[in-house]
Amino acid sequence: MPRAAITAVGHFLPETKMTNFDLEKLVDTNDEWIRTRTGIRERRILREPGKATAYMCSRAAQEILDQRGIDPEEIDLIIVATVTPDMLFPATACLVQHEIGATNAWGYDLSAACSGFLFALSAGARFIETGAHKKVLVIGADMMSSIMDYTDRTTCIIFGDGAGAVLLEPHEEHGLVDFVHKVDGSGGEHLRMDAGGSLHPASHETIDKKMHYLIQEGRQVFKFAVKGMSGVAAEVAKRNNLSGDDIKYLVPHQANLRIIDATANRVGIGRDKVMINIDRYGNTTSGTIPLCLYDWEAELRPGDNIILAAFGGGFTWGATYLTWAYDGSQVPGALERQQNTLEEA
Ligand code: UT7
Repeated sequence: MPRAAITAVGHFLPETKMTNFDLEKLVDTNDEWIRTRTGIRERRILREPGKATAYMCSRAAQEILDQRGIDPEEIDLIIVATVTPDMLFPATACLVQHEIGATNAWGYDLSAACSGFLFALSAGARFIETGAHKKVLVIGADMMSSIMDYTDRTTCIIFGDGAGAVLLEPHEEHGLVDFVHKVDGSGGEHLRMDAGGSLHPASHETIDKKMHYLIQEGRQVFKFAVKGMSGVAAEVAKRNNLSGDDIKYLVPHQANLRIIDATANRVGIGRDKVMINIDRYGNTTSGTIPLCLYDWEAELRPGDNIILAAFGGGFTWGATYLTWAYDGSQVPGALERQQNTLEEA
């Protein structure tokens, strides 16, 4: 059975930046509080009328097609992880399929909040490993600004917009090796959006009560996130006999720098081996992990041991162990990206 390997990475980030200083003008907060409590300096916001999550996904997917010279007709499957689809249906994956001209692909959306990309990656990998498909696009994207209450200082300072995409292809040696995925629905109440689904369809009342905005009990989620994300990352490392020294990079969901540090500690690695871009993009929900892979692509070499880890609403959480399949420094533009990342860090 072949492995399912990540063989290309693409991204899209809106140009508009919203800094902590911009937020100081909207809510009672300050740059120092946000930086020390979360690690965030600024985030990106999509402010182009008529453009939303599907647009960001399509741009990320198109970057992969262009970079690799792949005909869109070669794509077999598109899985989009998101909690901010353009609409409830059609699925974002269908909009992306049409936009990029992937006329032979099928696809679907997967809703698992911040763990969405990891769960979608596992799903996509099975279609490669079984031989059903040769090229699967897995995209993690969220336009969190569309469900943000910019009068609620406990949430609006955290989230941003962005998309990351990877291509999965069969590989003889490298690719996804193992995963630990979990959900615990008893935590659902702590991080949610109440209206817009079948329980509370949009009405004057839901609008008046601000039920179309994300609600988070930060402290509760924080506690579970530290335990959950560090627990699964350590578990997947241990059962694959990986010590801190064996791991080239930990790629954590970017929710809070303190949660990231706790996970790195538990896995036994220093910050130099952790991909961190929360300072520049905030929490893009499904987008965080592929956006990290995009920024650090030039550092990655065949055989590198990588652990991805996430925690999010649901609760959902998980970790994935994979070995990298290609020399990222050979990808056009990747070295420049890496340079920018280092300079801005
Ligand atoms: O990605 C999905 C999963 N999500 C997460 O993993 C997020 C997990 N949670 C967190 O990251 C953190 O809980 C937050 C960043 C949301 C909040 O940080 P915290 O250290 O847990 O703060 P807190 O909620 O305990 O609040 C501490 C104080 C409170 O004031 P009092 O009650 O001590 O007087 C808050 O009212 O900070 C206040 N506060 C703020 N002050 C300035 C809350 N938000 C702000 C703010 N600016 N934006």
